Amino acid sequence: MTKNIAVIGGDGIGVEITAEAIKILNKIAAKYNREFGFTHVLMGGIAIDETGVPLPEETVKVCKASDAVLLGAVGGPKWDKGAGHLRPEAGLLGIRSALGLFANLRPVRLFDVLADACVLKNPGKIDLIIVRELIGGAYFGRRETYKDEAEARTAYDTMLYRDWEIERIAKVAFKLAQKRSGSVCSVDKANVLDSSRLWREVVWETFGKGDYSGITLSDMLVDNCAMQLVRDPSQFDVIVTENLFGDILSDEASVLTGSLGMLPSASLSESGAGMYEPCHGSAPDIAGQDKANPLAMILSAAMMLRLSFDMDSEAAAIESAVERVLAKGLRTGDIYRGTEPAQAIPPLGGESSPERLVGCIEMGDAVAAEICFS
Ligand code: IPM
Ligand code: MG
Repeated sequence: MTKNIAVIGGDGIGVEITAEAIKILNKIAAKYNREFGFTHVLMGGIAIDETGVPLPEETVKVCKASDAVLLGAVGGPKWDKGAGHLRPEAGLLGIRSALGLFANLRPVRLFDVLADACVLKNPGKIDLIIVRELIGGAYFGRRETYKDEAEARTAYDTMLYRDWEIERIAKVAFKLAQKRSGSVCSVDKANVLDSSRLWREVVWETFGKGDYSGITLSDMLVDNCAMQLVRDPSQFDVIVTENLFGDILSDEASVLTGSLGMLPSASLSESGAGMYEPCHGSAPDIAGQDKANPLAMILSAAMMLRLSFDMDSEAAAIESAVERVLAKGLRTGDIYRGTEPAQAIPPLGGESSPERLVGCIEMGDAVAAEICFS
């Protein structure tokens, strides 16, 4: 049966990296006798240009009717001046909310071959996952910009959580931990924020109510967590946290994998809808130059196969193809550690550098080729 996938290329490098993910999925389809259908839809800056809004109705309709959504990235300086609801990012938040994608899973795994690209000197084993609540907190709370009585420009955002929103994301984290090393660290700012005190209370209540034997639960304040992530990331298995903290911590954690360009993600709803997107943005500075790292997008497609389509072997085939390509020394600029200028880099296997700087398309081709021969 055909799996219908809505594809939102979006802005900047989004279009380039989604093209590579589709290339890989077509290889998988051929090798494993699967059928994937792709419907391209507009969102973000390009949607503003073409339809006047960042999230056209049609896009929501197609995404809801699809088996999964693949999303590149949205945003860019061209649309930065618009009012909040007319910015590309409003499209992203809108689709997350329209599809009920409350659970954002961001796996942070350092491939052995990229140990040199990790920002830490002795990284050890890094294999953690950030479970970020995605449709609550300050991103969706009441907000306002106005002039107060003294004519001072004033603005506020509200970080609001209801108990059921905390409970459902905590359950996702506990269930994930049961399939992994079994420890959950809940991250909050309970020494200051009311919403965090409720968060902590509900996380523990949920833990107590369910059958989560074999799992350990601990709490950590978000400022400490930011520090512990770079001090000793190997202490973490599953980190569960609210929307804004998860956004910040996942960018921080991404460089443990070598680059933000390596971090995939899955956003899931209660009803089973899934959207798969890299954690990085649209990188307008390198857009259209064949310089983007497509691996986070390709690894997001692998997550889609595993989590939305139950295609475990296919997902594993992509992941090991990525690992082999990296082991052969292919590197996009963000994970390249050579010092030579691009033109002077010897081909793969050359003497002065085992690494070879490649573009987005060549990286995609190399992963596709590895899938063919695996
Ligand atoms: C992310 C991004 C988005 C977010 C932006 C683009 C709105 O940073 O997915 O992490 O803050 O959620
Ligand atoms: Mg972010």
